[in-house]
Amino acid sequence: MENPKQYSNLCAYRANRPSWALSENDATPEAAFFNRRELLKGLGIGAGLVAGITGSLYGASEAIAAEDPSAGLYPVKRNEAFKLERDITPEKINAAYNNFYEFGSHKQIAAAAQSLKIRPWEVTIDGLVEKPMTIGIDDLLAKMPLEERLYRHRCVEAWSMTVPWSGFSLSKLVALAKPTSGAKYVRFETFSDPDVATGQKQTWYPWPYVEAITIEEATNDLAFMVTGAYGKPLAKQFGSPLRLALPWKYGFKSIKSIVKISFTDKRPKSFWEQLNANEYGFWANVNPEVSHPRWSQANETILHTREKVPTLLFNGYGEQVASLYENIEGQQLYR
Ligand code: MTE
Repeated sequence: MENPKQYSNLCAYRANRPSWALSENDATPEAAFFNRRELLKGLGIGAGLVAGITGSLYGASEAIAAEDPSAGLYPVKRNEAFKLERDITPEKINAAYNNFYEFGSHKQIAAAAQSLKIRPWEVTIDGLVEKPMTIGIDDLLAKMPLEERLYRHRCVEAWSMTVPWSGFSLSKLVALAKPTSGAKYVRFETFSDPDVATGQKQTWYPWPYVEAITIEEATNDLAFMVTGAYGKPLAKQFGSPLRLALPWKYGFKSIKSIVKISFTDKRPKSFWEQLNANEYGFWANVNPEVSHPRWSQANETILHTREKVPTLLFNGYGEQVASLYENIEGQQLYR
């Protein structure tokens, strides 16, 4: 088995195969998506079937959403403070192009993700808090003021979307937990169940998926706990029943299917940082002027229009978040 630590990356890594050894047919995942013929070849099927597959995955996610006990809570009222000039990415496209390594290191994980059992689902809040707790997702939903926000989503791989997320401000969960004065970071952890999420059988990855941000970032109004999308409970491939959205950071910070939220005084090491700290650091704020070591971040391709547009500093959210980083020196803030 080759050691993925030598070359692991979000963009083009394939199990057992370094990114630089991809065949022409694989190209990169986004090239596979953007080039219909390559997508067909990659799937090994004819053109007529593709619409059907995308359609049925979408249909599956709709059916699951209807079964979800929280379905009656949606749609929720849109918060007009979080609107965008870009069109919303059609749900059909978003729901068939996902990063969720627990279900495979490619974009077509939607079908596999349907095996994730999302009830009962408990979230543990622990560490440096006055109110440690383990709470069922439906009880948590009942405590939180739900709203819809339109957010940009910029993957480190240089593609982007616009998503109507539903959920609640992370600051509300922080207030519920009541961190003590020593708490400096918030660490998030995804479920662990290799029988269901067979990607977790790939022992070279440091499972479970972990991400972390500072307390100041967690209490910034933009940090959003996502429980729904497109006016429905969250589809499993989006990280149901609870994920994070940090729209000013690269998408890998927006951890999916969270089971544990811990408050700590030590900076946690994230999943990708453990694999390749030079390429995926702690801060990972979007900046078009700071390239990934292997590709430029100057532009991004909008997933549903294939339009290439300039990337914005902090993904366009500088007004809300730039002040968080004013006094931080000597650290890699943009990778
Ligand atoms: N969370 C977990 N648990 N596992 C993952 O593989 N991928 C990340 C992030 N959260 C990932 C995850 C990456 S790289 C991105 S770009 C976004 O989820 C993708 O979210 P989307 O599939 O909803 O677009």
